[in-house]
Amino acid sequence: MPQIDRNGPIVVLTGAGISKESGLDTFRDKDGIWSKVRLEDVATPEGFARDPARVHAFYNARRRSLAEDGIHPNSAHAALARLEREWGAPVLVVTQNIDDLHERAGSTNLIHMHGELLKIRCRRCAEPFPWTDDLGLDHACPDCGRPGMLRPHVVWFGEMPLEMERIFEALEACALFVSIGTSGHVYPAAGFVAGVRKRGLAHTVELNLEPSEGASLFHESRLGRASELVPAFVEELLHRQDA
Ligand code: APR
Repeated sequence: MPQIDRNGPIVVLTGAGISKESGLDTFRDKDGIWSKVRLEDVATPEGFARDPARVHAFYNARRRSLAEDGIHPNSAHAALARLEREWGAPVLVVTQNIDDLHERAGSTNLIHMHGELLKIRCRRCAEPFPWTDDLGLDHACPDCGRPGMLRPHVVWFGEMPLEMERIFEALEACALFVSIGTSGHVYPAAGFVAGVRKRGLAHTVELNLEPSEGASLFHESRLGRASELVPAFVEELLHRQDA
């Protein structure tokens, strides 16, 4: 890996693979979430319109499992929080994940581009707010009082990801782009590396259990488990920075 400018901002994209060793399922691995339920039924506006109770049940089960004991950030989440603390320039984590493991590990400069499992919003009032219980059709919006208008604050297929302007600004300015634990199937996240490469100023690295769809676009692709790759990569980055 070349020397990275110590004043160079870093953008880290994470996917479900970074949370796998914390006990949360990925989507497209052989035993992944989409092998057990059709995404059309639970992760699209059409699926929600067709059967909202089914969608609520899907997210309620995932919200409960995130809150249950035993789901904790792993050493990969912790290493990214350390990088944010110790690097000489901003480190922005852009996660596709809707869990709260990056926050719980200490990352503060963080964008949840696909929303957050522990937040809901009213389809009328739109403002998201924290929610850790089961959500149902009988719950009324605390602002407008209407029942049946609450939905998970999660970006479904066909909906716009969140904070894209801020993400593209950070990608334009970064000296290093790192992708961790994502299969590179879903856009716009899957297209980030091509945009960074086109600008030609940043080094790009993939840390993944197996090569993603876009692996060939990265300067470097390191294969392995996030809990091992990410701490070692952060140590290498910080050590070289001090060298
Ligand atoms: N360490 C590192 N990488 C891992 C690990 C691990 N322990 N376990 C699995 N992986 C890798 C897999 O090899 C795969 O490339 O993580 C990736 C997970 O890919 P997906 O299941 O497709 O998850 P992700 O890329 O985050 O999906 C993107 O798709 O369904 C939508 O909105 C959902 O945010 C999600 C988006």
